[in-house]
Amino acid sequence: MVRPIKTAVFPVAGLGTRFLPATKAVPKEMLTVVDRPVIQIAVDEAREAGIEHFVFVTGRNKAAIEDHFDKQFELEATLERRGKTAELDLLAKGLPRAGQASFTRQQEPLGLGHAVWCARQIVGNEPFALLLPDMVMHASPGCLRQMMDVYETHGGGNVVAVEEVPWDQVSRYGVVGATDWQDNAFSITGMVEKPKRREDAPSNLIISGRYILQPEIFAEIERQEPGAGGEIQITDAMIRLMAQQPFHGLRYRGTTYDCGDKVGFLAANVALALDRPDIAPGFREALRKILSGHEEI
Ligand code: UTP
Repeated sequence: MVRPIKTAVFPVAGLGTRFLPATKAVPKEMLTVVDRPVIQIAVDEAREAGIEHFVFVTGRNKAAIEDHFDKQFELEATLERRGKTAELDLLAKGLPRAGQASFTRQQEPLGLGHAVWCARQIVGNEPFALLLPDMVMHASPGCLRQMMDVYETHGGGNVVAVEEVPWDQVSRYGVVGATDWQDNAFSITGMVEKPKRREDAPSNLIISGRYILQPEIFAEIERQEPGAGGEIQITDAMIRLMAQQPFHGLRYRGTTYDCGDKVGFLAANVALALDRPDIAPGFREALRKILSGHEEI
């Protein structure tokens, strides 16, 4: 029997230095793509995949995230008084039920691996999903839902979502080696974090921000020395766990937008706006006007 994945971890303690000054007082995970904070997009994706427990690893200056996943009594009372039922429904839909959200703190931003390790007591000895909220996955069904199917079909193990990128970009990411392809799923043969030279990269399939991991990952993170950039990386721990457990890859159907990066953030806003029937027609027209003023595009 495959152990079901009911818990998801959202690391949200990073400093967001690439987005200053916006992220001085506002967590980067609260920046909005159209009208939804990126953290809300990730939580909705997790809920669609069957997640029931949302674990946030936060840090100082991140209180807005906690408030976002709580009731806002005055606002809701006012909306109710004014008969704004559509807005009330929207707020209710995005809210985890009582007891479904947990918050813990990463006291220093020592890297993604360290942030995940901070959730170990809350997650316990169960497999869990890990979603990097600043990676917005534009996919239907959602990326994590697609990964759950691979997890169930392969009888468990670990699953990593990947995306193909041009070869000249692989040095920016964690890259996987692939074998035994079945449709879009494959066995991972190896991983390299930010390969310096093209020949060090086993493929152009990059790790794109969604993982299903077995709890043994925590012990592997604990054994780890700081890696690239002095941070504790999750990839190094996964490489060690690969010696003991199977890792499956999924080239998921969809597109990743790195919203921790300015171009990715702008592109996500355009892509998700064009998908929204309530705003797409007017937005398409506005885009046409903007682009016609930039003939070189
Ligand atoms: P990033 O490396 O993109 O986030 O981590 P960052 O460090 O905030 O970004 P820059 O480079 O300074 O602009 C991906 C995710 O992991 C979290 C971040 O909050 C983000 O959601 N993270 C990163 C942590 O929770 N703790 C860390 O120590 C590092």
